[in-house]
Amino acid sequence: MKNPPILQFADLQCGYGDTVVVRGVSGCTAPGRVLGILGRNGVGKSTLLKALAGFLPVAGGTLAWAGQDLRTLPPHARLAAGIAYAPQENVVFGELTVEENLWLHIGRRRDVRYDALFARFPRLRERLAQRAGALSGGERKLLSFARTMALAAPLTMLDEPTEGVQPENIDRMAQCIHEVTAEGRSFIVVEQNLSFLEAIASDVLVLDHGRCVLQGEMRALGREALEAHLVV
Ligand SMILES: Nc1ncnc2c1ncn2[C@@H]1O[C@H](COP(=O)(O)OP(=O)(O)OP(=O)(O)O)[C@@H](O)[C@H]1O
Ligand SMILES: [Mg+2]
Repeated sequence: MKNPPILQFADLQCGYGDTVVVRGVSGCTAPGRVLGILGRNGVGKSTLLKALAGFLPVAGGTLAWAGQDLRTLPPHARLAAGIAYAPQENVVFGELTVEENLWLHIGRRRDVRYDALFARFPRLRERLAQRAGALSGGERKLLSFARTMALAAPLTMLDEPTEGVQPENIDRMAQCIHEVTAEGRSFIVVEQNLSFLEAIASDVLVLDHGRCVLQGEMRALGREALEAHLVV
């Protein structure tokens, strides 16, 4: 890894109440890198991301951002520190318009520009005046992706961003991620779409029953090894 890690977690444990879901998982990401998190349904991928974003307490292990202990920092403070997060579910406010959803997220910050995202995803611009609740599941995911990307955070965490999204828009999402990682931003992306991960991930971490069962550089591991862990 060329750049030193920006986010690092080691022996991380988290879950719900007394139920431990993620058990002793370690990983990191660095500027310009994309860490893909893979695994079958229910293995703890979203739980891990929620703990990294501050929506679940860290029950054990360490979690650091640029050397600073993150474990007790609430979600808004992690966002302010440079960690953006798009959850898997409940990604938009259904009663608000698409435009309101976009502005709400960024508080009309002038340095945030949607032009490039609108050019790439014209569907979003066409729907600005529409209630977000009337969008399809895939369109909602696209809206969530756009507003999270527009934050231009040093680290962006996306939980299954391509769920229900049309193939051509999945390709465009991959291009977006590619472009900004080249500028030094980093990502942690939970995905079950292996082709998408192959297109964007530099590193991967495979979870099974809350534990890491495979980890390394995407190139070195290859598709077959990853697929073997996804087969039920
Ligand atoms: N709010 C919750 N309260 C209690 N248990 C939960 C909660 N959310 C998830 N779990 C449990 O934690 C485990 C891991 O769930 P998690 O959502 O992290 O899996 P996942 O890998 O993201 O799955 P998927 O691919 O379906 O999104 C599951 O057994 C699930 O039932
Ligand atoms: Mg999940």
